[in-house]
Amino acid sequence: MRIVLLGAPGAGKGTQCKSLVSRYGLLHLSSGDILRQERSEGTELGKKAQRYMDSGALVPDEIIIEMMAKAIDNAPAAGFILDGFPRTVNQAVALDKALDESGQTIDAVLNLEVDDGIIEKRMTGRRSCPQCGAVYHIENMKPKTEGVCDHDGTELIQRPDDNPKVVAKRLETYHRQTEPLVDYYKKQGIVHDFDANDEAEVVASSIFDALDTLST
Ligand code: AP5
Ligand code: MG
Repeated sequence: MRIVLLGAPGAGKGTQCKSLVSRYGLLHLSSGDILRQERSEGTELGKKAQRYMDSGALVPDEIIIEMMAKAIDNAPAAGFILDGFPRTVNQAVALDKALDESGQTIDAVLNLEVDDGIIEKRMTGRRSCPQCGAVYHIENMKPKTEGVCDHDGTELIQRPDDNPKVVAKRLETYHRQTEPLVDYYKKQGIVHDFDANDEAEVVASSIFDALDTLST
């Protein structure tokens, strides 16, 4: 299966990917996680991306398209789930073209719909593990021990772009540049909409129902 996950910042893309990976054995490719990794390693790409990410703007298409093409090339036969890519119509066209060249297509686009009003609470309460990427929330999804990752005991951090000012800018960027992708993929007839205001387990269960139907 080749899946694209769409949704605003804080819609729960990363959270849902964890469940999808363990159920279907897909490779999770998060453009945001890859960029943060490049930044922590101090690479040229990471340095170029920094100022865009910290301001809540998108990193230029050409940088992202090249980075994600490499990641997709290494995906296993079971398939992949793209989290945070594509994020502009340009990126989606480039992805379709690259897949087409190897005789592949996107099987499903999962569109997580969340009201803007609850995004800020999710973002400001999010805590992440810098080691394994696990995502928690100080109220909704607490780690077993406060401030510490359940999986590897690493101290949890708050992402630098999870402050109200940058969150507002990321939301605006999403509505202006990424939401048009829903229509782009609706024209291909592959979009599945999900109410992602609900608890994470409820959202996961509706996604499983849709994908199980698709794969039988
Ligand atoms: P990226 O890392 O992709 O950030 P984002 O899209 O803003 O999304 P988030 O990771 O913030 O949210 P999420 O939907 O994964 O939610 P999560 O599951 O963590 O991108 C960062 C930056 O990189 C961009 O701003 C841009 O600069 C750059 N970039 C990345 N990709 C790019 C591209 N393709 N092109 C150009 N630039 C790009 O959940 C959030 C919180 O809510 C957590 O605390 C979680 O525990 C909680 N939560 C999740 N689900 C629920 C639920 N159902 N109920 C209650 N709480 C929940
Ligand atoms: Mg994420």
